[in-house]
Amino acid sequence: MAQSKPRHFLTLLDLSPSELQGLIARAIELKAMHAQGDTPPLFPNKVLGMIFEKSSTRTRVSFEAGMAQLGGHALFLSPRDTQLGRGEPIEDSARVLSRMVDIVMIRTFAHATVEQFSAYSKVPVINALTDEYHPCQLLADIQTFTEHRGPIDGKSVAWVGDGNNMCQSYINAARQWNFELRIACPPGFEPDADLMAQNRDRITLCKSPQEAVHNSDLVVTDTWASMGQEEEQQAREQAFEGYQVNAELMSYARSDALFMHCLPAYRGKEVCAELMEAPNAVIWDEAENRLHAQKALIEFLLTHPQA
Ligand code: CP
Ligand code: NVA
Repeated sequence: MAQSKPRHFLTLLDLSPSELQGLIARAIELKAMHAQGDTPPLFPNKVLGMIFEKSSTRTRVSFEAGMAQLGGHALFLSPRDTQLGRGEPIEDSARVLSRMVDIVMIRTFAHATVEQFSAYSKVPVINALTDEYHPCQLLADIQTFTEHRGPIDGKSVAWVGDGNNMCQSYINAARQWNFELRIACPPGFEPDADLMAQNRDRITLCKSPQEAVHNSDLVVTDTWASMGQEEEQQAREQAFEGYQVNAELMSYARSDALFMHCLPAYRGKEVCAELMEAPNAVIWDEAENRLHAQKALIEFLLTHPQA
């Protein structure tokens, strides 16, 4: 008998546009309930395994607090003190862990690692950031835009900076939520060519940050040197000169345009310090929404366990 496969969330393409839409609506609802002190323990005794091969503040705290609020538990697993760090194969770790926990979250380097883990897991696996994608952050970003400005469908979004995991998740988001994405990256730092080719109808690669930001409803950036690129930091700072998001660049956007950054931010590099404090910078709501959006995601995966 063929075994049914669990549902995973490795990229935004793992859920349909209507499932994603429902998830954002549920995140907004869970947030309102939480604000009123109504935090129903929907998943008592359920356990989330959290594998972190890279650092984290928001992702760890939002998943751990979210699981506690849902009545379950979260286990922090670092390669420094599990056998993963001593070379136990990912396939073996997946088979063992998924016999003990109900859902797994992984933050790692190669995207292939989460694919490999999920192929051997009996329970849903969530990508909590790889070198290629950061889909959980996009759930929070879309929730935040929706709360402040209504549906993002048909809007224009500017990505300024590195064509990194966040930018690539924005490309997937443009497809799934039907918005226009205008990308400005220094030469040599563009997103994956195949991903861009597959989404030509939604994305435009612009020649300058000003061209990307022109008339946009949302401007987004991220660090110029992601985790794992620490040694390239200085060279990247030179290559990204002129790509800082600041008030002057924001003046090309619509007057009600929002600014987002997944954080951590490096003031004076990809973003100027003043913009971080501006009223249209919705970065603290964006960070908070990681909690609500991921609770909705956990609920979705635990209640739709089979693909
Ligand atoms: N935005 C984000 O994922 O933050 P952390 O690296 O702190 O988890
Ligand atoms: N692009 C960044 C995002 C951090 C949340 C990184 O991968 O380090």
